Amino acid sequence: VSAAPERLRVALGERSYDILVGPGLIDRAGEEIRARLQPSRVVVVTDSHLAATPFPDRLEASLAAAGLAARREVVPPGEASKSFSVLERLLDALIAGGADRRTLLVVLGGGVVGDLAGFAAAILLRGVDHVQLPTTLLAQVDSAIGGKTGINTARGKNLVGAFHQPRLVLIDPATLDTLPARELRAGYAEVVKYGLIDDPAFFAWLEREGGRVLARDADALARAIVTSLQAKARVVEGDERETSGRRALLNLGHTFAHAYEAESGYDGGLLHGEAVALGLVKAFELSRRLGLCPQEHVARVRDHLASHGLPVEPGRVRPKGFDPDRLLAAMARDKKVQDGRINFVLVRGIGRAFAGTPVAAKVLRPLLDHARA
Ligand SMILES: NC(=O)c1ccc[n+]([C@@H]2O[C@H](COP(=O)([O-])OP(=O)(O)OC[C@H]3O[C@@H](n4cnc5c(N)ncnc54)[C@H](O)[C@@H]3O)[C@@H](O)[C@H]2O)c1
Ligand SMILES: [Zn+2]
Repeated sequence: VSAAPERLRVALGERSYDILVGPGLIDRAGEEIRARLQPSRVVVVTDSHLAATPFPDRLEASLAAAGLAARREVVPPGEASKSFSVLERLLDALIAGGADRRTLLVVLGGGVVGDLAGFAAAILLRGVDHVQLPTTLLAQVDSAIGGKTGINTARGKNLVGAFHQPRLVLIDPATLDTLPARELRAGYAEVVKYGLIDDPAFFAWLEREGGRVLARDADALARAIVTSLQAKARVVEGDERETSGRRALLNLGHTFAHAYEAESGYDGGLLHGEAVALGLVKAFELSRRLGLCPQEHVARVRDHLASHGLPVEPGRVRPKGFDPDRLLAAMARDKKVQDGRINFVLVRGIGRAFAGTPVAAKVLRPLLDHARA
């Protein structure tokens, strides 16, 4: 029997929902859902990596014990599943299984399954409820809350999707026990990001305790997750649909990261969180070049990420390095371009990020020239 979970709330009027965080929650999912929702039928959507762990069986046992017998739909793992073809197969299976407007999707997996199944929930019968049970650190601190759902197209990532908030998010840090260490580290880069945006005390705590987080110490993990979620929930509440620019702060490091990712090809060679680690260092270096941020803070960020095994040196990520002109072109294709200048989230130091500064390509280029760096 586990201690009572921590409860956070995302306040969005009639779309408000709880986030519960606690080890063992997967075995209480049934009662937590039953206490809030009255679905006609329940479908667990997960991927085949998760299907090889005990978690789907435990989740379904908990649902059944609460009178919510569930069917299971399993999609292939990996970014390629955020596609029209996998979405179509999933929707077809749900409809063939007798979905109606009161069908509930219970989504068990990382950000890929979360984005895909969340989008399926958004459009199935013009929208059904879904509950997120994220199982990667990245999904637990970022993608499972906020309501962004969607898939990729041949022309780029996340180009088709919808805002569709979950009805409940259940975060069981013990599900991270089976997550490969490299995936855990990648998610950790997003945790660090929250400290760098506006919480220097959290970053300082991570400097001391980050090793315990990555060693999957239950208390340290829970604290890192809850602190990150509080930060994300505040931003989502202030800017649900990313219109006011407030949500833009969450993109710290991401303009660089998206360029490194696009150049690496989303094939697992460079994970999103690894690209974020590179991008965070670049955002700090850029801020220092612009005279905004002391060098000492750049060094702390770089040292912290590197000491936990995250990449900080793009030139070392792959043998052939990255072509600065291709990186610039990738950044220019990213959403945040204005009059030929690229909009960045910059920092005045650790925990002092601010959004919406246009930077000219000639200022960026030397930062991307890794051969000379
Ligand atoms: N919606 C949003 O707001 C948002 C935010 C950030 C990222 N994203 C999206 O999230 C996706 C990345 O998510 P991710 O990093 O979680 O990747 P992922 O879902 O691909 O999971 C990573 C790998 O770990 C496996 N896995 C997941 N949980 C496991 C567990 N507990 N034990 C063993 N294996 C496990 C998965 O099968 C997969 O192979 C990207 O598509 C990105 O665009 C969305
Ligand atoms: Zn990210």
